[in-house]
Amino acid sequence: MKIAVLPGDGIGPEVTAQSVKVLRAIASNRFELEMQEAPIGQAGVDAAGVPLPPETLKIAGQSDAILFGSVGGPTDELPDRSKRPGAGLLKLRKTLSLYANFRPAVLFPELIGASTLRPEIVEGVDMMILRELNGDLYFGEPRGVHVEDGKRIGINTMRYSEDEIARIAHVGFQTARKRRGKLCSVDKANVLETMQLWREVVMEVGREYPDVELSHLYIDAAAMMLIRNPRQFDVIVTGNVFGDILSDAAAMLTGSIGMLPSASMGEGTLGLFEPVHGSAPDIADQDIANPLASILSSAMLLRYSLNRPDEADRVERAVRSVLAAGYRTADIYQPGTRKVGTTEMGDAVVAALEHDV
Ligand code: IPM
Ligand code: MG
Repeated sequence: MKIAVLPGDGIGPEVTAQSVKVLRAIASNRFELEMQEAPIGQAGVDAAGVPLPPETLKIAGQSDAILFGSVGGPTDELPDRSKRPGAGLLKLRKTLSLYANFRPAVLFPELIGASTLRPEIVEGVDMMILRELNGDLYFGEPRGVHVEDGKRIGINTMRYSEDEIARIAHVGFQTARKRRGKLCSVDKANVLETMQLWREVVMEVGREYPDVELSHLYIDAAAMMLIRNPRQFDVIVTGNVFGDILSDAAAMLTGSIGMLPSASMGEGTLGLFEPVHGSAPDIADQDIANPLASILSSAMLLRYSLNRPDEADRVERAVRSVLAAGYRTADIYQPGTRKVGTTEMGDAVVAALEHDV
């Protein structure tokens, strides 16, 4: 099995290093893992002049799975868009047709006090946000800023074809089937034509899944419901932009964005696995970032791309056991627990894995 390791920028390299340790420990003498590292984001610009160097794309495309850290930093808003670190990630998702982004938001019972919401609201939260990744305002044309009558005009285009909507809808229904059988599609069909098409196509696809309970919410109401009564959600399927926003909001239900993993899949088994959090340049290189989102992303990698569900379960059990033992990075620390750094948290997970055979 070949894994492309793309640590990226900011805290990306330090959290990814913990995942690499965990993957090595889990593979040990059970299966072969070949890991190859390549630069992306600002690291790509520094190494090869572009955020997604062709060599990085090649390594990623030839792997069984991609383990990704995070990209971004002070150059996020450079006037030259093609040199922005985030452009590397967007291009990677698009070029490899990784269109289905799974962002689970699960509250670990040990962290119930770390959420900014009341325990009785977040208790038992376990949802999957499925975000479409290859369309929408992110890629629609025309786009750009131009001058009309001496004034600058900014344009982006919300665009979805029925095929793009149908393929993500199928993934949504199939995901719901494997969980609690509920799918909520989030759109803005009352105002936007693109989103009206979204709703129609989701309903058409839904006829093939009579066993799944389908509901619809507008994005504004969905944002409110996510905070008011998050337990009602099982699977949420939504477009690229709304999914970007809702998944950050959902992260806060679970205590910290430092806990949330993600997987981006296409038609095959190749997937891109990344923590939902960004590069957090303000805390980079201080050994204080939470590596658990990256480690949980490695568990998703084992499950979705390498077809190793038992090993994925083991990694998740190890994470639960270090939390139960009281280990906490600063973002989830509460008095009475044990504050550890990035490396120590990674080591604790590896030690827990070795105890659980
Ligand atoms: C995410 C991030 C990215 C996105 C950025 C880094 C381009 O916010 O993965 O949610 O907007 O998709
Ligand atoms: Mg985001």
